[in-house]
Amino acid sequence: MTNKKSGLLQRPDYLVCTCMGVMYSEICQAIEDGYTTFDQLSEFLLVGTGCNSCVPEVKDILKEKLGDK
Ligand code: FES
Repeated sequence: MTNKKSGLLQRPDYLVCTCMGVMYSEICQAIEDGYTTFDQLSEFLLVGTGCNSCVPEVKDILKEKLGDK
């Protein structure tokens, strides 16, 4: 059984964007604060503005957090 309350915040934090030093938790927080597109996250946290290798991961986190919204 899944506990919805535990959700994503219970996941161990990890570095998503090594270029800009952006953690998973920072991306989740930004999404909760209303940065709900990759472009917005990129502008706010600078994710994906270096080598670009984190772009698919950031997009996956967005999908995961927003579901089918
Ligand atoms: S790891 Fe995010 S831009 Fe390089």
